[in-house]
Amino acid sequence: QKRIRIPHLQKMKADGEKWAMLTAYDMYTAEIFDEAGIPVLLVGDSAGNNVYGFETTVPVTVDHLVPLCRAVTSAAKHAMVVADLPFGSYQASPQQALATATRFMKEGLAHAVKLEGGKAMVPEVELLVRAGIPVMGHIGFTPQSEHVLGGYRVQGRGDSAQRTIDDAVALQEAGCFAIVMEMVPSPLAKAVTERLDIPTIGIGAGPDCDAQVLVWQDMAGLRGGRAPRFVKKYANLREDLADAAKAYAAEVASGAFPAAEHSFEN
Ligand code: KIV
Ligand code: NA
Repeated sequence: QKRIRIPHLQKMKADGEKWAMLTAYDMYTAEIFDEAGIPVLLVGDSAGNNVYGFETTVPVTVDHLVPLCRAVTSAAKHAMVVADLPFGSYQASPQQALATATRFMKEGLAHAVKLEGGKAMVPEVELLVRAGIPVMGHIGFTPQSEHVLGGYRVQGRGDSAQRTIDDAVALQEAGCFAIVMEMVPSPLAKAVTERLDIPTIGIGAGPDCDAQVLVWQDMAGLRGGRAPRFVKKYANLREDLADAAKAYAAEVASGAFPAAEHSFEN
């Protein structure tokens, strides 16, 4: 199988074939998800909360993400790898967005970039696409703006639904190849998905998007504490890893590890 590209995603939308995106931030997860057939991997700025130990994505920098992106792209043989543009690295001007996206393409070896925002981001999207950089949009709840949005809240309820539709259409017309919709009511996500020619990727956006995305540590149960409503846990990695660590420590304490087979007699 060759590298997944934009026409493959277009064809899946045309065929009504739904697909899953996952985040990845390192070599093994990229390799595993790629071999599992996940067509698109996102090097998300969710690395802030899931790799670097920050409370939000706001402190994440380009220097934080570029090396992770390079690791993911190097390990993923088939998946399209999308890099998030971090907060503050693209909003100043289309030129700033181009400089940042260029770093992700050249140093991170990304195949595309993602940025947050609707209509306001049209000039940035247009310049990137003109320069040959595929852009994924991200609307609805946009975590980089959480301080303006007043925390994690569903977006596009009531009167603001039309604005979400207008944002999606504007991003498509600017040249985006796909759009993430985060925490919007399912009927609105359905309306946007039907209105657009490009795929929508939902997270907390109901069952009618063309694709879904989850942060892998949420999906695999590595995260501790309470997960958001839109998360489903498909494994219990946190428990599994804790059990492994305890078993290892217990065998070291008892002397059961290392055994002869783990040792060099001469
Ligand atoms: O950073 C991220 O993981 C994301 C997805 C949740 C869409 O932006
Ligand atoms: Na993100």
